[in-house]
Amino acid sequence: MALFPQIRLRRLRRTEALREMVRETRLHVADLVYPLFAVPGQQVREEITSLPGNFHLSPDLLAKEAESVAKLGIPAVLLFGMPQDKDEAGSGAYDEQGVVQKAVRAMKRAVPELVVITDVCLCQYTDHGQCGVVMDGYVDNDRTLELIARTALSHAEAGADVVAPSDMMDGRVAAIRSALDTNSFHETIILSYAAKYASAFYGPFREAAGSTPRFGDRRSYQLDPANLRQALREVELDVQEGADMILVKPALAYLDVIAAVRQRFHHPVAAYNVSGEFAMVKAAAQRGWLDEAACVLELLTAMRRAGADLIITYHAKEVAGWLKPGAAT
Ligand code: PBG
Repeated sequence: MALFPQIRLRRLRRTEALREMVRETRLHVADLVYPLFAVPGQQVREEITSLPGNFHLSPDLLAKEAESVAKLGIPAVLLFGMPQDKDEAGSGAYDEQGVVQKAVRAMKRAVPELVVITDVCLCQYTDHGQCGVVMDGYVDNDRTLELIARTALSHAEAGADVVAPSDMMDGRVAAIRSALDTNSFHETIILSYAAKYASAFYGPFREAAGSTPRFGDRRSYQLDPANLRQALREVELDVQEGADMILVKPALAYLDVIAAVRQRFHHPVAAYNVSGEFAMVKAAAQRGWLDEAACVLELLTAMRRAGADLIITYHAKEVAGWLKPGAAT
């Protein structure tokens, strides 16, 4: 049996050309999805303090942003909306003239080939900040389903290519598929946030989206971070209900979940590199403690290695630059 000194694994690592040849995982700009935040009005462009380098944009400027994202080679965006007004039933979420609906129309008009994914949830639209209809202090699953399905349908009508429910209600994928199909949106794709955990890493996003719950938390519907098997049941059910793609969120502390989902299912898997994960690297880099490009590329490669096909990241535009041939990283 050949062992050291005949066997030397360092042989395959000696030069960059050799390392490149035997590299098992690659990160490509085509794997990236860039999240965007739509706000009402015109010519509005405000930097989001908790997500440096990311902006609240009005639909007219989102159309321009769509062009610059597409020019970088990023194939898709994930759109969130910040409505003018919030109410108990989150009615801004399924308003034909809502901010997301307007933004989708503007972006698809400007760049038809850009894949527009919309986040389907009520939490940015409800005055209490919970992801569904609240009855006696508890988020009512079945009453929420109808509104979630209505929201997804209104996004499809506006031209969204993909709807991405992030509410974690039971039965939402089936409710959405049926609403879409009944209205002839057979081609609209469902990307289900199937394994979405009740995570503290959503902090910067909630500030950006104004969606911090006014009371309680989201632990009665989002997954307990301690659970893997339950996440697989969530994925299994969403797949049975007709999800076309599966999402695991957050990514960094849940690489084992990504790997387990990858192993068991044949659907495309997306990882959401969430706001708190972005913020940790960004803040450390701003202090000069970390090399931002190197750390981000390492983290995103790890998500790919774990099994993610797609990565949703606030770093997408920067990554597109870093991945350009000849870019100094
Ligand atoms: C809304 C939603 C959240 C995120 C995406 N969609 C917040 C939450 O569930 O509290 C978080 C995204 C991020 O942190 O980057 N349902």
